[in-house]
Amino acid sequence: MKDIMNAPFLVEMIRTVTNMYAHGWDERNGGNVSLLLEADEVGAYLDTRQAIRTIPTGFSAPELEGKSFLVTGTGKYFKNVQYDPSGNLGIVRLTDGGEKAELLWGFSDGGQFTSEFPAHMMSHVARLKTDPDNRVVMHCHPANLLAMTYVHSLDEREFTRTLWQMCTECIVVFPDGVNVLPWMLCGTNEIGMATAEKMTTARLVVWSQHGIYGAGKNLDETFGLIETAEKAAEIYMKIAHLPRLHTISDEAMHQLEAHFGVKAREGYLN
Ligand code: 13P
Ligand code: ZN
Repeated sequence: MKDIMNAPFLVEMIRTVTNMYAHGWDERNGGNVSLLLEADEVGAYLDTRQAIRTIPTGFSAPELEGKSFLVTGTGKYFKNVQYDPSGNLGIVRLTDGGEKAELLWGFSDGGQFTSEFPAHMMSHVARLKTDPDNRVVMHCHPANLLAMTYVHSLDEREFTRTLWQMCTECIVVFPDGVNVLPWMLCGTNEIGMATAEKMTTARLVVWSQHGIYGAGKNLDETFGLIETAEKAAEIYMKIAHLPRLHTISDEAMHQLEAHFGVKAREGYLN
């Protein structure tokens, strides 16, 4: 059995959450990340026949039966993950139609997965239907995206268009745009279901006055997606109160579509 501390998925997770903290997206225990693991990836590092303990999930997700996830712990600080990976992270395998999670590694102080586990698992189900290569769901609290939800219309087309107009490459990075949920109580199955619904049409879902969810094929790509949207929101918050003399026109966006071979969300460009 290989040492899990050398597992590329664990190393990459530690580096990613450390970087998220460094970006200021994850104050205190803010934010959570889940990574879908391949069965053979887990088997190379862990004896998967024996579960450490079983944790009820409080929802069902039959599509994820038997699937394993590396996930951040509830109440855990991203800044501490690099110093104590097995105390702050865990690997769980879903059983009983997703109603139970078998702990295979981690949460060594008796803890458990993030309180946003429903939003993560339901979003994995939704994204896997659209993109079978999706592996990551990431949630965090980036300041500028959050700030935007206080001063900008929450209409998804308007919100997306504003972000696209803030940096030339936004439309290339997230041509599917950004979906937006109104403020909702976090940590519930309800916000989980609402997030998953929004994940069927976009890989970014803003939680108004709270943060953002991103989904992608790997940790780097998902981090980059949020990073790009957050950069755009930062520029918006720098200029929103100033007279706007220039912008990226819809004509320019169409040129970007053609040049980079991407298709903007239907009906979002004039
Ligand atoms: P957890 O500590 O349970 O992951 O919650 C943090 C958070 O961001 C809730 O939305
Ligand atoms: Zn949060």
